[in-house]
Amino acid sequence: MNATAIVPAAGAGERMQHRLKKSYISLGGQPILARTLQALDSVESIQQIIVAVYPGDEQLCQKEVLARLTLRAAVTVVAGGATRQQSVHNALALVPDGTQLVIIHDGARPLGSSDLIRSVLALAGARRAATAAVAVKDTIAMVSWKQATVTQDLPRGQLGIIQTPQAFERTLLAQAHAQALQDGFQGTDDASLVLRMGIPVAVVTGSYANIKITTQDDLLLAELILQGGRLA
Ligand code: CTP
Ligand code: MG
Repeated sequence: MNATAIVPAAGAGERMQHRLKKSYISLGGQPILARTLQALDSVESIQQIIVAVYPGDEQLCQKEVLARLTLRAAVTVVAGGATRQQSVHNALALVPDGTQLVIIHDGARPLGSSDLIRSVLALAGARRAATAAVAVKDTIAMVSWKQATVTQDLPRGQLGIIQTPQAFERTLLAQAHAQALQDGFQGTDDASLVLRMGIPVAVVTGSYANIKITTQDDLLLAELILQGGRLA
């Protein structure tokens, strides 16, 4: 099986409030993006990695991340877009023809394990579309922030926190992106684009350690996770 990885890493990192964009912030002595790339590179079936970076940061990524790593997979850097979806779309255009599966993993999730990446790829190979997800621990409800009121309770047992990696048959993902573009639909992940075409997305149990680094708190938590070994 030949897989290509797409790494959306083109966000501005506004919620982090750091002088560097998230990809370049050090986590345990290595840039966050370097850790994400190494995890993907450790999975043999991934032969190409396409990284979408903030437009104009192509050289920075090369110098600060790629030049300091020895990776087995071929890496291409592409300018991302104004939204995550657009960044993935830009990268999709560069996926080589021989690719059967495309695996997408946020640049800002440096703690995703090789095992999780392998499991998501294997399930996508069998079921066309797959994502990592974990069970919700907190109570989640619909809230009107404007009216400061809880509007609807949601059944926790049926809720999941959707993570990346997510993997898809290449043709299915390309169709889902084309359809979303045509309909003017913006999703926060790729599974939602596939789901709205009526195609089921299979779930692999992810990891609570596979956090998306979004705020300063996440950076502290990630350092702790790295020091303490993996959480379940
Ligand atoms: N992303 C992207 N292109 C964008 C926006 C986001 O490739 N235009 C990527 C981010 O780099 C990140 C992932 O999508 O790896 C998840 O996005 P998020 O955590 O929201 O990162 P940022 O958009 O950088 O952060 P913020 O929303 O706080 O600005
Ligand atoms: Mg964002």
